[in-house]
Amino acid sequence: MIVARELTKVFSKKHLSSRLPFGQSKSRSKIDPVVAVDKVDLEIPAGTVFGLLGPNGAGKTTLIKILSTLIIPTSGSVTINGYDVRTQEREVRVSTGLGLGGERSFYWRLTGEQNLEFFGTMQGLTGKRLKKRVSKVLDRLDLGGVQNVPFMKYSSGMKRKLDIARALLTNPPIFLLDELTSSIDPSAAVKIRELVQELKERGKTILLVTHNLAEAERLCDLIGIMNHGKLIAVGNASSLRNLVKGCKIRIQLDGRKIGLLHALAELDGVENVRREGSEIVILASRRDSVVNQIIRAIAATEVPVQNINVHRPSLEDVFLHLTGSDNYAPNPGVR
Ligand SMILES: Nc1ncnc2c1ncn2[C@@H]1O[C@H](COP(=O)(O)OP(=O)(O)OP(=O)(O)O)[C@@H](O)[C@H]1O
Ligand SMILES: [Mg+2]
Repeated sequence: MIVARELTKVFSKKHLSSRLPFGQSKSRSKIDPVVAVDKVDLEIPAGTVFGLLGPNGAGKTTLIKILSTLIIPTSGSVTINGYDVRTQEREVRVSTGLGLGGERSFYWRLTGEQNLEFFGTMQGLTGKRLKKRVSKVLDRLDLGGVQNVPFMKYSSGMKRKLDIARALLTNPPIFLLDELTSSIDPSAAVKIRELVQELKERGKTILLVTHNLAEAERLCDLIGIMNHGKLIAVGNASSLRNLVKGCKIRIQLDGRKIGLLHALAELDGVENVRREGSEIVILASRRDSVVNQIIRAIAATEVPVQNINVHRPSLEDVFLHLTGSDNYAPNPGVR
């Protein structure tokens, strides 16, 4: 189980100025502190797959780094498997398998196998058990064929897989996996999702970060959306979809009519109208009479309708709406 209360991380001016590119001497007073994680309350029950979503810079990696003891929080508390991240670092590390996706944490001249043997040894595995675990996780991630290749020759996807393999080495009860399937090809991504499912069936608790919303929907029991350091929504995919009322209507017309988009945008209950390729996409705040009004407005133009599709908001609509990137206000440029 993972429990965080009022968890906050502020990167101070000192942190930020140390990250400035070489030769750039920005005055300290010009750099504002960044609240990367802002009073996050989080509860992930044991045996749950929790998907963390959020735009770039939302604070997801910072949160995972705090949970894995790599970063000390500014305030608030976290327990992992009952252990406090501030005072019981060792126990937290033994309880977690961490995959941050960063390639710099491997030794580039060592092979994949040698890297895993090194990290396995650091985590207390020795002798036959070490060899057995390394070979098992390499096979599990389909890296058996490249285990003797130096890490520097790995493709991005292979590096990502080795990172997940390393997280599996000691078979811990909790996994923290950042950017689960980024750089991974579609068929390998299917296998990684199967792996997560299998870990869940074995009772493991998994916190994963993904930008793939379909993946989150398919894989996760609970989904959290982060924005500007805050956890702004938590629920299962279906309950999150209910946060956006109304519906999305896609219409394909056999031709164009000047002024139609503007007329549609003016209708009561229509939130947003835009063109997406050959389709008109409308977000409506309710379902009832709006769809009929839209159909009437289009019928009046006499442009033939090829296709019309009305559906509930997707997880993507919810994500865009909650993170303020859906441009919900009627688009002034519509014609
Ligand atoms: N070590 C650091 N020092 C200063 N600022 C940092 C540091 N690490 C992260 N930040 C800042 O904290 C904020 C959150 O960054 P974080 O990497 O947690 O975002 P993220 O949600 O993982 O984004 P992405 O989806 O792009 O990976 C950003 O504004 C980032 O610039
Ligand atoms: Mg990140």
